[in-house]
Amino acid sequence: MADDIAAPGPPLAVAMRGIVKRFPGVVANDGVDFDLRVGEVHALLGENGAGKSTLMNVLGGLYRPDAGEVAVFGERVDFHSPRDAIAAGLGMVHQHFALVPTQTVTENVLIGLDRPRFRIDLARFDDEIADLARRHGLALDPRARIWQLSVGEQQRVEILKFLYRGARVLILDEPTAVLAPQEADDLFRTLRSMVADGASVVFISHKLAEVSRIADRVTVMRRGRVTAAGIPSAGTTPEGLALLMVGREVLETIERTPFRPGPVVLSVRAVEATGDRGVPALRGVSLDIRSGEILGVAGVAGNGQSELAQIVTGLRPTTAGSVTVNGDDVTNRPPREVIRRHVAHVPEDRTGVGSAPDLSIADNLIMKSYHDAPIARRWAIDTGAVRRFAIGLKERFDIAAPSVDIDARLLSGGNLQRLILAREITSDPSLMVAVQPTRGLDVGAIATVHRLLLAQRESGSATLLISEDLDEVLGLSDRVAVMYEGRIVGIFDAVEADVAAIGLLMTGGSAPSLAEPGSPAELVS
Ligand SMILES: Nc1ncnc2c1ncn2[C@@H]1O[C@H](COP(=O)(O)OP(=O)(O)OP(=O)(O)O)[C@@H](O)[C@H]1O
Ligand SMILES: [Mg+2]
Repeated sequence: MADDIAAPGPPLAVAMRGIVKRFPGVVANDGVDFDLRVGEVHALLGENGAGKSTLMNVLGGLYRPDAGEVAVFGERVDFHSPRDAIAAGLGMVHQHFALVPTQTVTENVLIGLDRPRFRIDLARFDDEIADLARRHGLALDPRARIWQLSVGEQQRVEILKFLYRGARVLILDEPTAVLAPQEADDLFRTLRSMVADGASVVFISHKLAEVSRIADRVTVMRRGRVTAAGIPSAGTTPEGLALLMVGREVLETIERTPFRPGPVVLSVRAVEATGDRGVPALRGVSLDIRSGEILGVAGVAGNGQSELAQIVTGLRPTTAGSVTVNGDDVTNRPPREVIRRHVAHVPEDRTGVGSAPDLSIADNLIMKSYHDAPIARRWAIDTGAVRRFAIGLKERFDIAAPSVDIDARLLSGGNLQRLILAREITSDPSLMVAVQPTRGLDVGAIATVHRLLLAQRESGSATLLISEDLDEVLGLSDRVAVMYEGRIVGIFDAVEADVAAIGLLMTGGSAPSLAEPGSPAELVS
């Protein structure tokens, strides 16, 4: 094996041979070989839980493999920590970022480096970092604080950290899952410029269409093993890749039953709210959603969609206007009170708002039902019922984990999303607020979530669906609202929606076919 790693031929940035990584109850990597050539973008694909993040965590020095060996630029390496990997020229941007929210971009880039800690000295680095960002097409203000940044911008900070450290291999774990299409295009330009400079990139993604676009080669994993190694992406199709990932055809056709709207469940009236950066995020938003209806919100990230979900779920105060659920005024009521009115929420932020990473899967699953039978018995919690309930959900929603007693933070990205969906959907909501519900899910799981959301609609829930995937919005929704700069600039019946007109509205254009986009008569069905 050792000669294999030092094999002559074109130099490899990374060679991994026979990697085995076991966790209690699961073999996450079962003898995996992986090659990364210098100057290529290599996509790593596979279903949720296939072992992609684990393999890259081994490469990034986070995990030590139980067996196998790794070489970087022809040298055997044995990393004991991410610090070792960084020293060898590797940088890894995780599914969940590791930035310090209260510090600036510059401070975060300099973290862990031997640099002065005084503000006065830091100012000098601002220019240097702004310059580096500009050279690689990363639009960023070095003085902005992390909490003020969008997810896309935070990701740029992570990339910048490694560029600053001179990383030659960049590992990106589902970077586009959190990006709007435009942001993804910007990222691809940055990656191309890095690769042209001789860097090498591992790119994990569930978006098969973009894989053929950005990657030179593709490796596919299934259940801890490689099922296709380094095939050129030029000849692949999304269907072919899906087949390699799942081992069967996964073509999705969304079938909706006719629209039978009931009474109004959610009513938002002339709502205004301020965003994290202190500027108006919602500027007079009004909409109604009826029982049995899915209202999809289309828009480019950062135009008020997240804030809309937050004011409905009690996570952000409104400065004007009102929100009612089934006629009850919930304007500026705390989340607990909103939840009590049977409002379910699949939030954008899965680890902060959506789950408690340090609690078990079972505890996370019962979070919203612990006060109801069969879990609550008078004043006590029936632990047997908790386990049965959790195991039932784990099976129904196909959450891959050795048991319901392990901490939620040990779940793969897609399986954590399944956990949140399982909990929220089974809470039998009157209103479902679903923000990017299929982000990070594999093709098979996306189809399952779509079926579940449609089943909710069938059973009479009202659904506010916020998604950056326009196909998803159009496929699932009864009506589509387009948001731009904190306003709803148009509402359409999904069946007769004109994609081109929606695209235009999303980017601030006007749709000539609409007499008066966003007039109150249209907004309120
Ligand atoms: N630290 C850990 N402890 C226990 N089990 C783990 C740990 N990390 C990962 N696993 C398990 O190993 C398997 C592979 O997980 P991994 O995160 O590598 O999957 P993935 O391919 O990245 O999936 P996704 O697309 O959902 O992100 C899963 O069953 C997961 O639950
Ligand atoms: Mg992963």
